[in-house]
Amino acid sequence: MKSLQQVLNQGDQSFTRSAEVSKPPARECPICHRRIEPVQIVLLGQTRWGTVTCPCETQAREAEEKAKQAREWLTLCHEFTSRNKLLPKATLENYSMHKGCGNAIKIANNFVDTYTEWQKERPGLGIYLNGTNGLGKTHILSGLYKALTGKKISAVFMTTYHMFQRFREVSKVDDYEYEKRLLKVLYGCEVLLLDDVGGEVPYDSRAEKLLDVINARSQKRPIIYSSNFTTDGLEQWMGNQGSRIADRILENSITITLQGESQRGGINDRHHDWLAGRVKGLG
Ligand SMILES: Nc1ncnc2c1ncn2[C@@H]1O[C@H](COP(=O)(O)OP(=O)(O)OP(=O)(O)O)[C@@H](O)[C@H]1O
Ligand SMILES: [Mg+2]
Ligand SMILES: [Zn+2]
Repeated sequence: MKSLQQVLNQGDQSFTRSAEVSKPPARECPICHRRIEPVQIVLLGQTRWGTVTCPCETQAREAEEKAKQAREWLTLCHEFTSRNKLLPKATLENYSMHKGCGNAIKIANNFVDTYTEWQKERPGLGIYLNGTNGLGKTHILSGLYKALTGKKISAVFMTTYHMFQRFREVSKVDDYEYEKRLLKVLYGCEVLLLDDVGGEVPYDSRAEKLLDVINARSQKRPIIYSSNFTTDGLEQWMGNQGSRIADRILENSITITLQGESQRGGINDRHHDWLAGRVKGLG
C-alpha cells in the first residue's frame, strides 16, 4: 500500500501502460476517504484506464510543497544571520524600562505585535535606533529577531561589519551562487535587522553596497538599524554616498534616539558583587 506521501507525490492522473489491462480497482482518497473510480481515456487511439487524484490530495500536495519552500527560505535566512552576535539572553520582555529608552522598546514591541498593520499601512517602514554605547540597541534588535522568527517571519540579524565582510568574500572568489543567495536574503527577507551601522567596516566600497540593500528594500521591506550615529552623523561618516543613504533611511524609518547611561556599568557592578561573594577580604 502506498504511503500518503507517495500518493501526494504522484501526478494528478496515472494511466495503465498497455491497452489490454483490465479495469483497475477504485481507490480511496486517503484524506477525505471518498471512493474514486478509475476513468477510461483514449490515448493515441488506444483505450486505457487512468486513476484519478482527488482535488483534496492535489491541494494537500501543493500545501506541502509551499510549506517546504517556506521552511527552506527560513533556513537560508537563519544561515545568513550573525548568530554569534545576537545577545543570547536578550528578549523584548526582559528589556527593563529606563528613562530615555522607553520609546524605543515601546515602538519595538508595537512593531512585532502589529507587524501586519505596519506593512499594510506603511510598507517598508523600519526603525533607526541610535544612541551611545550600552543603551540596549543590540538588545532590542536581538529581542526583535527572536520575536519575529518566533512568529515565522523571515527576519535576518546581521552586523553591518559582517554584511560587508560577506560582500568582500564574494568579490574575492567570484562565487556567483553565494552572491545570489546573499542578495536574495538581504533584499528579500521580510525584516532585516542591521546592527551597528557606521561601526568599523572591513573595506572601502561599503557605502555602495549598503545603498543597494536600502534601495532594494525601500518602501517594500523594512530595515531596523542600530547605530552610534544620528542620521546626520552617518551622512558624514559614509562619505560620497552619505547623503543618499541618510536620505533614504529618513524616508523609510522612524528615527529614535536612546538616551541615558550605559547599562554595561550596572552589569559590571553585578560582576563585582558576585566576585565579592566568592573571594572574601577584597580591599
Ligand atoms: N534596558 C535594558 N534592560 C536590560 N538589559 C539591558 C538594557 N539595556 C542594555 N542592556 C544590557 O546591557 C548590555 C549592553 O547592551 P547593548 O549591547 O544592547 O548596547 P548597545 O546600545 O548595542 O551598545 P553599543 O552601541 O556599544 O553597541 C547588554 O548585555 C544588554 O543586554
Ligand atoms: Mg550594539
Ligand atoms: Zn479527497
